[in-house]
Amino acid sequence: VNDRVVAPFWESSYSEPSQQTFGPPAEGVLRLTTRMSPGAVVLDLGCGDGRNALALAERGFDVEALDISEAGVAKLEALAAERGLSLEARVEDVTSFRFPRAYDLIVAHGVLHLLAREQWEAVLDRMKRSTAPGGWNVVVVFTDRLPPPLDLAPHVKGAFREGELAERYRGRGWTVELDARYTLRDEHPGGVRHVHPVNEIVARRSPESVPE
Ligand SMILES: C[S@@+](CC[C@H](N)C(=O)[O-])C[C@H]1O[C@@H](n2cnc3c(N)ncnc32)[C@H](O)[C@@H]1O
Repeated sequence: VNDRVVAPFWESSYSEPSQQTFGPPAEGVLRLTTRMSPGAVVLDLGCGDGRNALALAERGFDVEALDISEAGVAKLEALAAERGLSLEARVEDVTSFRFPRAYDLIVAHGVLHLLAREQWEAVLDRMKRSTAPGGWNVVVVFTDRLPPPLDLAPHVKGAFREGELAERYRGRGWTVELDARYTLRDEHPGGVRHVHPVNEIVARRSPESVPE
């Protein structure tokens, strides 16, 4: 029995100087940029090779981007340098990141379900506490409505239940501005085809909430 966990498909794509692994910047992130003040402070958790972090830096925001993948962070840094963009990218595990300041936008796109449930619960709590009053969270996760694709199964450690992501933001000083639930059919570099049950939220912390 070979029980070695094979690296997820994105690792090899991060090592290639080709296109961005997950395509163009996410719509939900781009839409928010028109509502954010110049100089807003942004955190991209599990940034990968940086499609969202780069788009945010390009629009003049103060971007911090973290990923556990050395190849991902190296590619993001190279792309930023190529485009003359300034941002802070670091190799860091989001489960031990302690959110040293408040952020106007925190993005966690496609990363939380890769953590075990108790880990993502703690990260989500820290994200909410570290969001500035009036700031946003954009979170995209896979749910357990369908089984994960075989190649990703060992990596999807904490699939969400349908609807529970939005539930965690309702009330208590947050407004859920988008609660989208859909099936994503995508194709990745190398011809990898996947079908994912996705929950996506855009949530805003009340401007009247007290900073923590
Ligand atoms: C599906 S990719 C999404 C990348 C990026 N957010 C995007 O939308 O293009 C998930 C990313 O999460 C990263 N990741 C997984 N576990 C992590 C952890 N514990 N800490 C930081 N990053 C992690 C992976 O290395 C990978 O780059």
